[in-house]
Amino acid sequence: MYAQVNTLALYGLQGVVVQVEIDLAQGLPGFEIVGLPGHSVREAKDRVRAAMRNCGLEFPQKRITANLAPAHLRKEGSGFDLGLALGILVAEEQIPPQRLNGVALVGELALDGTLRSVRGLLSLALGAREHGFYTLVAPASCAQEAALVSGLQVIGAESLRDVVLWLMGKKELPPVRPHDSAEPALPSGREDFSEIKGQPHVKRALEIAAAGNHNILLIGPPGSGKTMLAKRVPTILPPLTARESLQVTQVHSVAGLRTANGGLMQTRPFRTPHHTISSGGLIGGGTIPRPGEVSLAHGGVLFLDELPEFRKSVLEMLRQPLEDAQVTISRTQATYTFPSRFLLVAAMNPCPCGYYGSDYKTCSCTPVQIAKYQSKISGPLLDRIDLHIEVPRVTYQDIVNQTQEPSSRDIGARVLMARDVQAKRFPDRTSPYNASMSSSDTRFFCELGPDARSLLEKSFDVLGLSARAYERVLKVARTIADLAGSAAVEEAHVAEAVQYRSLDRHPTL
Ligand SMILES: Nc1ncnc2c1ncn2[C@@H]1O[C@H](COP(=O)(O)OP(=O)(O)O)[C@@H](O)[C@H]1O
Ligand SMILES: [Mg+2]
Ligand SMILES: [Zn+2]
Repeated sequence: MYAQVNTLALYGLQGVVVQVEIDLAQGLPGFEIVGLPGHSVREAKDRVRAAMRNCGLEFPQKRITANLAPAHLRKEGSGFDLGLALGILVAEEQIPPQRLNGVALVGELALDGTLRSVRGLLSLALGAREHGFYTLVAPASCAQEAALVSGLQVIGAESLRDVVLWLMGKKELPPVRPHDSAEPALPSGREDFSEIKGQPHVKRALEIAAAGNHNILLIGPPGSGKTMLAKRVPTILPPLTARESLQVTQVHSVAGLRTANGGLMQTRPFRTPHHTISSGGLIGGGTIPRPGEVSLAHGGVLFLDELPEFRKSVLEMLRQPLEDAQVTISRTQATYTFPSRFLLVAAMNPCPCGYYGSDYKTCSCTPVQIAKYQSKISGPLLDRIDLHIEVPRVTYQDIVNQTQEPSSRDIGARVLMARDVQAKRFPDRTSPYNASMSSSDTRFFCELGPDARSLLEKSFDVLGLSARAYERVLKVARTIADLAGSAAVEEAHVAEAVQYRSLDRHPTL
């Protein structure tokens, strides 16, 4: 006796169809799963057996072979339980096979037959639709997420028993409707730039960073507002596009961070991992890989506070996501890819004690200590940070000043305009930002007139800028020109751009 039912597995953000084939043979009773099952899948045997019995369903006293196809992909997770149970019931002719035409099933079974939610249901549902399924049967506790996918009927079930009764036409399970109330785009009570007093040049640098998608490093003593400033960067980025919003929701769903009744996520993420984080936590990892902080920050801001305190080996891992906007985690017989396009905002003190160069407290560090501290951020990482900006403490005058500070809405409008210019400049790119320009792009799009060129030359001599600063300055100058609505990169734009290379300028600040 033979049956075949369809279920889905998660590979990164991708939902892939997995067919469960069941063969029932006479002989010594047993249950074997083949087709590269991981440890978590092999445990399904016990769950399926107990769940069926506890739902009053007969577990066949036969030799059961379950094959998970395609055979070349490693299978992990507990989401195949429901498919395995249904496969057995169909093979036993308790359920007619045609009832499962166009139907895919996912869900973990508790021993009493209750269906438990699975991670990444949104991605699984997208995979089901892509493969031409009409109906997805999923645990009721997370089915809402799948209902976000249009053109797919989603049936939320509480238990194996429910699913069986529904398939036998003995119980109604109405399709799950998508939540009509998506998260508001701008939740009230959210941080705003208008709360930040003074520090106009830091705000300006953050505006440039957001406009051209330039990674930025804030350098300043404790209490100078670095965290406060970084937190507000997502508020000046344009709203998520529908596509981004779906991806951000998918990543959080795969990470298991979604609530049951949530709609699409509409706000740009702000992630702030602690400096003790492991490389797995940052990049993603685990036996069944989950997205790391770089992917949870996808579409938003990754804030690395106290940058030199991060392990060097961990910071090295940032190269792939910064370069490719995605991370790939390889496991035997499977690779997992997660998107990771984020704006990096990093912060550091200028020295171990924090007060080097500050005018209100004396630094107690030796020059060697300071040099060692700053050298902890590796060259390759520094190469991917276009803007360095010193953040002095806000002055008393600025704090008591009653003038209206620019709001996130004002700054965001300028950012949006500059981004539109770039979108037109790079119409077919997935990353249409000045920060993503290649060397040949910079030659083509950042051509300088004689005045701008001679200013840049002089600045390199006077400020002692390193060669690595050259292209970065050009890209940033391009963004400054875009913010000014200027087609050409002019002298003034270059003059401002060279200011944002503090760390190149003086090796020990
Ligand atoms: N420019 C500013 N305007 C208003 N408040 C500020 C400003 N800078 C700092 N503060 C206040 O100082 C506190 C500490 O700032 P924080 O962002 O934690 O500094 P850092 O991260 O540089 O150590 C903030 O919570 C805020 O109350
Ligand atoms: Mg801080
Ligand atoms: Zn110091």
